[in-house]
Amino acid sequence: MLQIRDLHTFYGESHVLQGVSMGVEKGSVTALLGRNGVGKTTLCRSLVGLTPARAGQILFDGADITRLPPHRIHALRIGLVPQGRRIFPSLTVRENLAIALRLREPLRRDRQAESTQWDLQRVLSVFPRLGERSGNRGDELSGGEQQMLAVARALVGNPVFLVLDEPTEGLAPALVAEVGQIVRRLKAEGTSVLLVEQNAAFAITLADHAHVMSKGRIVHSSDPATLWADDDVKTQLLGVPRT
Ligand SMILES: Nc1ncnc2c1ncn2[C@@H]1O[C@H](COP(=O)(O)OP(=O)(O)OP(=O)(O)O)[C@@H](O)[C@H]1O
Ligand SMILES: [Mg+2]
Repeated sequence: MLQIRDLHTFYGESHVLQGVSMGVEKGSVTALLGRNGVGKTTLCRSLVGLTPARAGQILFDGADITRLPPHRIHALRIGLVPQGRRIFPSLTVRENLAIALRLREPLRRDRQAESTQWDLQRVLSVFPRLGERSGNRGDELSGGEQQMLAVARALVGNPVFLVLDEPTEGLAPALVAEVGQIVRRLKAEGTSVLLVEQNAAFAITLADHAHVMSKGRIVHSSDPATLWADDDVKTQLLGVPRT
């Protein structure tokens, strides 16, 4: 579904992604792990066109999307739940979702069967708490509710491929588990997921494949069990304490 080949991304002179190569298989949950500052968010931004790569290639269903602007990538039904949620604090839950609904591209008939259609009613049935809070402003929501809203906002774009950038950051354990349920549900419905996490212990319980990034490169790729059995990867690259 997604192929990234030797991707290089810069902020000004700062060379952040230094030749990233990795893939995401259709229907899978793929984890992208790594300590802070290694370039995970930068890769997410390059994927959706916010910080375009300077060299290398991103193929989505075989088409080159490396230099497409964000709205064209969104129209291909690639969704992003950004790190830090980025919801509109002064708008209500309903208004935050209405904006996403208005920006949604009409579905191409030949791709309608590919994944679930999300409308407001369906999103609110999956996140009943957002229904209860629909008249509340973004800044009146708890961290967990804000994360639900950020996911819901991405879902109304009917993504076939969803990038979640550190969805559990700052959440209490019960809410982390809830995010896990959502990821499982997305996968069951056929959505492909790139799950970016510093919380490796959480991500590997969900992932089919795992990639580890260090200093702007992918330095380990395997199935999650192999990764978790590798003490050096765990301690040096993921910061998991040696047991
Ligand atoms: N807008 C920016 N301008 C300049 N440098 C940036 C910018 N955003 C990030 N960086 C730098 O790029 C590097 C990679 O940052 P990035 O946010 O991609 O890391 P990350 O792996 O997502 O980290 P975290 O786990 O903390 O979210 C860091 O050194 C960071 O300081
Ligand atoms: Mg980040």
